Amino acid sequence: MAGNDVEEKGRAAAQKSLDQVTLIDPDVIECPYHTYKKLREEAPVYKDPVAGFYIVSCYNDIMKVIKDTATFSSNVAEAVFPPGERNRAEEFGGYPSVPALITADPPKHKYYRNPINKVFSAARVEQMEPYIEQITHALIDDFIKDGYCEFVAQYTIPMPLMIIADQLGVPREDLPLFKEFSDALTTQVSGVANREQRIWAAKKNVEFQKYFVKVIEEKRVNPTDDIITDLINAQMENGEPMSVPELLSVLNILLAAGNETTTNSISKGILLLIQNPDQMKLVLDDLSLVENLTEEVLRFDGPVQGLMRVATRDAEIAGAPIPKGSVIMLRYASANRDEQHFPGSEAFDIRRRNAATHLAFGQGIHFCLGAMLARKEMNVTFRAVLTRMKNLRLAPGYPEPHHEPSIVLRGLKELHLAFDPAP
Ligand code: HEM
Repeated sequence: MAGNDVEEKGRAAAQKSLDQVTLIDPDVIECPYHTYKKLREEAPVYKDPVAGFYIVSCYNDIMKVIKDTATFSSNVAEAVFPPGERNRAEEFGGYPSVPALITADPPKHKYYRNPINKVFSAARVEQMEPYIEQITHALIDDFIKDGYCEFVAQYTIPMPLMIIADQLGVPREDLPLFKEFSDALTTQVSGVANREQRIWAAKKNVEFQKYFVKVIEEKRVNPTDDIITDLINAQMENGEPMSVPELLSVLNILLAAGNETTTNSISKGILLLIQNPDQMKLVLDDLSLVENLTEEVLRFDGPVQGLMRVATRDAEIAGAPIPKGSVIMLRYASANRDEQHFPGSEAFDIRRRNAATHLAFGQGIHFCLGAMLARKEMNVTFRAVLTRMKNLRLAPGYPEPHHEPSIVLRGLKELHLAFDPAP
C-alpha cells in the first residue's frame, strides 16, 4: 500500500476518462494499481494515447499472447524506439545490439539460452545457498550496530551485483562500474528518459562493451569456470560460436536483468512488511512462511511491471484487432491483481495459496532465467533481516518512499530503516 498522498494521486489518475489514461502519467507510475483495475474492468486491451502501444491487462489474455511467439515477437527494439527517439552504442563508436535472449525469437532463442540454463538451475542455486548467506550476513554486519541503514544503497544494490559479478567471473572491485552499466540499460528501457539521459546511457553502453571485449579476449586465452567462458564455447545453430556483438548483447542482459529487479523486489518486500504489521507478525511467528512471502511480494508489487511484444501480422487479442507492427505491452503487474485469478487480489496476503502462479517472472520460453536465483536471494535476505533486525520500522525524518521513474521497472529510490539489533 502506498502512502496517503501517493495513494490519492494514483486514485485520482484512475478517475480520468478512459481516453486520457496513460502509463506515462507520473501519478500512474508512482501508484499504478487503481489504473490497472480500471483497465481490466473497462478496456482489457487498451491503446495508450501517449505511449502508442496496446496495454493487455488481464491474466488469461497475457498468457495467450506469451504462448503465441510466432504472432507476437520479442524482437521489439526497432518497433519501440523508432529512429530519432533512440540513442544507441553504435552512434558513439560501439557495436550494434543484437536481438539476443530476451529479445530473440524461436528458433534462435534457444541457442542463447541453452548454454547458461544450467548455471541458474534449481539444483545449482540450491548449492549456492551458503555462499549467498555469507554475502547477506557480511553486508548486514556493516550496519547492524547503527540501528539504522539506507537499505537500498547499503544492501539491496550491492547484494545481487556481487552475485552476478561472481557468476560472470569478473572482479568485485569493479562493482561500481557494473552498477553504472546496469543503470544505463535500465535508463534505455524506462520509456521516460530524455535525450540527455539516453545519450549518457548509450555512451555507458560503449564503455560496457569495451570492458567486456577485453574480458572476452582474456578468457579466450585463459578459460575459467564461469558464464563468460561457457558463452564463448557455446555453438549456435550453424555450429559457429557467438559473434562479439552477440556475446555482448547476452552479457548486457545478464548484467542488467538480474540487478535492478532483485534490488527492487527485496526492498519492496521489507517495505510491504512494515506497512502490513499483521503480515509481519505472521512471518515473525513462523519463518517457514518466508518462501510464500517472496511469491506474494512478487505478485503484489513486482519489479517488472510489464514487457513488450510486437505483432508480426494482423492479429486479435480478446476480440480487439491488433494491426501488424503494433507494439503490445503485457502488463504483468496488472495480471497479478486480476480478481479472476487471485480472489481478494488487492490484499497483501503472505498465506495466499496460489501466490506462486504470478506472472512477475513472465511465462513461456522467456520465463525468467534467473527466477530460482532471485527467489533464493529474496528468501535468504528476508530470513536474515527478520532474524537480525528487530522492531523494523521506517526511520523517522525521511520523506515517504518513492519509486524511480520508469514504465517498465518499479523500484524504491531509497528505504531508510530503523531497527533494534537482535541480541
Ligand atoms: C525478482 C527478480 C526478477 C524478476 C521479477 C525478473 C523478471 C523477468 C521477466 C518478467 C522476464 C520475462 C521476459 C519476457 O516476458 O519477455 C525475465 C527474463 C529474464 N531474466 Fe529475469 N527477473 C528477475 C531476476 C533475474 C535474475 C537474478 C537474472 C539473472 C541472473 C535474470 C535474468 C533474466 C534473463 C536472462 C531473462 C531472459 C530470458 C529469456 O528470454 O529466455 N532475471 N525476467
